[in-house]
Amino acid sequence: MELKKVLIVDKIDDLGIELLRKEPNLQVDVKIGIQKEDLLNIIGEYDGLIIRSDTKINSELMDKAKKLKVVGRAGNGVDNIDIPEATKRGIIVANTPDSNSISACELTIGLLLAQGRNIVSADKFLKEGNWDRDSFMGNELFNKTLGIIGLGRIGALVATRMNAFGMKVIAYDPYISDERFERYNVEKKQSLEALLKESDYITIHTPRTDETIGMIDDKEVNLMKDDVRIVNAARGKLMVEDALYKGLRSGKIASVGIDVHEKEPRYSAKLYEFKNVVVTPHIGATTVEAQQNVGITIAQQVLNGINGDIVPNAVNLPTIHRDELKEIKPYIDLAERLGKVYYQLNKDAVKLVDITYWGEIAYQDTKMVTIAFIKGLLEPVMADRINYINAKFKAKESGIGINSKNICEHFNSFSNLITIKITNNNGKIFTISGTISTKGEGKIVEIIGYEVDVNPTSYMLFLQNKDVPGVIGQVGTFIGNENVNVATMQVGRKLKGDKALMILNIDDKISKKALDNFIEIDNIIWAKVIEL
Ligand code: NAD
Ligand code: MLT
Repeated sequence: MELKKVLIVDKIDDLGIELLRKEPNLQVDVKIGIQKEDLLNIIGEYDGLIIRSDTKINSELMDKAKKLKVVGRAGNGVDNIDIPEATKRGIIVANTPDSNSISACELTIGLLLAQGRNIVSADKFLKEGNWDRDSFMGNELFNKTLGIIGLGRIGALVATRMNAFGMKVIAYDPYISDERFERYNVEKKQSLEALLKESDYITIHTPRTDETIGMIDDKEVNLMKDDVRIVNAARGKLMVEDALYKGLRSGKIASVGIDVHEKEPRYSAKLYEFKNVVVTPHIGATTVEAQQNVGITIAQQVLNGINGDIVPNAVNLPTIHRDELKEIKPYIDLAERLGKVYYQLNKDAVKLVDITYWGEIAYQDTKMVTIAFIKGLLEPVMADRINYINAKFKAKESGIGINSKNICEHFNSFSNLITIKITNNNGKIFTISGTISTKGEGKIVEIIGYEVDVNPTSYMLFLQNKDVPGVIGQVGTFIGNENVNVATMQVGRKLKGDKALMILNIDDKISKKALDNFIEIDNIIWAKVIEL
């Protein structure tokens, strides 16, 4: 088996490294803090790369990373990775979104409490040999209003915990359902402005995107209540530090807690001159529990990516939960095989693919199944690497339209069925359908209008013949002469005397030359061996 290589360039927990090292045929190199130039020089050797937020993954690096299949981000935010570029190149980007949320939430609460009760400055004061209580007058959180910007994973964890402190929790997040606000007992604010005007404490938990960078600037600070207290444990640059500085200087802002910085690493900043500013060096996820979770999860994701398995946390793929994945995995495998058939039988460029999911499968999220079909379709004819990540992008680039629909009714007697209609550039139609049997096996049940019942195995001989006596014998003799074993054989026809379709599952390839000679035989219209 070919040796694969993974490079780890930012620190992850040993449990993750051990998990990778147990894998046979996998070389794991750990080069923490490697310089950019050195990384550019060696990245070409690696199939997998594990990073945290310190390493930037851009097109310059990806240009050199010819073998790279997967980048594992040991953590949550992926703003240090150029995702569209990775997607184009078929590189999977996976993260560990749930593994450190509790830790980030708990640090957020630590920063809220540390500010309201002057914990850090009081600690310093006492250790410098002083004693005084009046200088450290604080505020209770109880009965105050907490404004959360972004009610995702961490925002919701903070809401639950701060509700228990007796705070009134309000949030601004235009991208989530009202039901989520209700579930977390949070009052929904229709605008950021409304949240800023009402909050005694403000904490931000959005990702860093073009929209969220600079979300809190001078204008927003001016809208806030006097003596507001603010936390940013999400991402640097979401709040403009200069605006916070001015707010602190003027006395409008009572205090600030910051874990994430405009520039990282950073050793000094104007903000650090205030004793009512509590800063930590991006340690939201720095707990034993979070790092173990993150290390193990990212190692598993990277292994999956290298081995060509589904990567549940891939950020450039539809998200699939573990249980859902178990349910749709057989359909994913079947769809990929169905996809591989077309170009091995036809040479005409595809214009449109219409996929219909019937019965049980129609209740599932079928996005991944569609992607698997496209991957299978393009793989036999594309020089570029095609995988689940870039299949859709490559189809679009080739001008192939893709429609899919889910119909929950059964199709005839099939409890589940995938029917595919491919229209080529000349308007000619090719159809193929497949089902998952009660035994969990993928089956092709229809092809170009012929009803069949065959397993899509590694090697298959498809041929069309005149429906006359003696052809089956001719085929048997031909394959026997080629010394190839036949596992199963199916003959289908639409009408008596019409053209028949024969499909054979065979154990080996048949040479092209032999096949060309065979096609010369009377009664054989065409014959093709395909590999699935
Ligand atoms: P998430 O994706 O679960 O939630 C983000 C929420 O922000 C979503 O609900 C989204 O709808 C909302 N949102 C997006 N744009 C918005 C906008 N313009 N206005 C209002 N809401 C908007 O993310 P998460 O897991 O909760 O992580 C939140 C942040 O915390 C991320 O930036 C992440 O990188 C960061 N993080 C930091 C640390 C740390 O060490 N300090 C650790 C983990 C995560
Ligand atoms: C994250 O996004 O997960 C955090 O910033 C923590 C980290 O980078 O490790």
